[in-house]
Amino acid sequence: MLYCRHQYAKENYMLKGKTAVLAVSGSIAAYKIANLARMLKKLECNVQVLMTENATRFINPITFESLTGNKCLIDTFDRNFQYSVEHVALAKQADVVLAAPASANVIGKMANGIADDMLTTTILACPCRKIIAPAMNHHMYHNPIVQDNLQKLRHFGYEILEPDRGMLANGDVGDGRMPEEEVLLEYIIREIAFDKDFRGKRVLVTAGATRESLDPVRFITNHSSGKMGFALARAAALRGAEVTLIAAHTDVKPPLFAKVLPVVSAEDMFLAVSREAFGADYIIKAAAVADYTPVAAAEEKIKKSGDSLRIELKRTRDILKYLGERKRKGQILCGFAMETEQLLENSRKKLREKNCDLICANSLKEAGAGFGTDTNRITLITKEKETSLELMSKEEAAHRILDTLRYEL
Ligand code: CTP
Repeated sequence: MLYCRHQYAKENYMLKGKTAVLAVSGSIAAYKIANLARMLKKLECNVQVLMTENATRFINPITFESLTGNKCLIDTFDRNFQYSVEHVALAKQADVVLAAPASANVIGKMANGIADDMLTTTILACPCRKIIAPAMNHHMYHNPIVQDNLQKLRHFGYEILEPDRGMLANGDVGDGRMPEEEVLLEYIIREIAFDKDFRGKRVLVTAGATRESLDPVRFITNHSSGKMGFALARAAALRGAEVTLIAAHTDVKPPLFAKVLPVVSAEDMFLAVSREAFGADYIIKAAAVADYTPVAAAEEKIKKSGDSLRIELKRTRDILKYLGERKRKGQILCGFAMETEQLLENSRKKLREKNCDLICANSLKEAGAGFGTDTNRITLITKEKETSLELMSKEEAAHRILDTLRYEL
């Protein structure tokens, strides 16, 4: 078990002790797997690469051997390798298999139980989860024979990744591009990096900065980057939760395994949250919501005139307070408090007044905490206790917050 309560994995060794088998078949996309192998090694994963003979025409096995420190397996009857006699040993050791790029030929063999080389034999013997990333020409991919084979693999519990659309190797534009390495890595991480202690739980996260329109050109907003909220949504999804992420403006890419509902203003966020909240087991309000919005947004651009301009603002709804007043039995509510003074006093007041179970307090004045940074320094405040965390990455902080929500309330 890699992830457990209070023994949270630091992002840089969360795959330690795990084995990922990368099964590479003949496609130009094979070059991307070298980078994937490197990224997995950085996370301290044991990486074993299987190649078809055709794959070796696209990328040299030495590339993988140098990156992984393991012999690349190609020929079932290679007498110099321990697994040649007992290839099943590798199959047993695997925590996950990723077949990427998976050619139409290899997909056809896997779907029909054909095991005529090291790659197909080993995959057939692997009891772990198998993820397939097809990579081929658009017409091959849409050929009903290939689609039938993929359907058959799905039926047997294989996870099939949708190929991307874009420029293919022959210059055609279409479906069939293998997803980028970062996406493949995320699938592997989800599969093997964490205990699924949020399985069966629905988590609603809000993130980002709302924008309140003044006119068609301008808006009022704040400095929130959305990083903390996105890290929370990602961490919950990797721990097995079904995650809905209501996202106002952010600077970062949304996590892969969350249902993302984009919103713009505080009122949009209120409407989206009030629709989604009832079904959620955990609600985490990391968004930086405007407290005031213009009384009316001008229909046309406001032209300059005179030396000063007055804008009348009205209060927005306090979404967290609204949720606290309607919290159903068993639902857990977590808010954030970003302060520039009297951090703990103000945060305790928010915990009480908004009927929250947890407030994550962070001071804008602390080095490494606050808007836009990749790190945070949080104090976790519940009705019973206050825990000051050291400076850590927002990913680690997200796991600590989830631990508190899951085990300490
Ligand atoms: N929040 C909210 N709706 C608002 C304003 C804030 O749901 N209209 C939530 C935020 O998502 C956060 C928490 O309330 O989880 C605290 O936000 P913060 O801006 O720190 O405090 P406020 O409650 O707005 O109070 P104040 O401005 O007085 O500090």
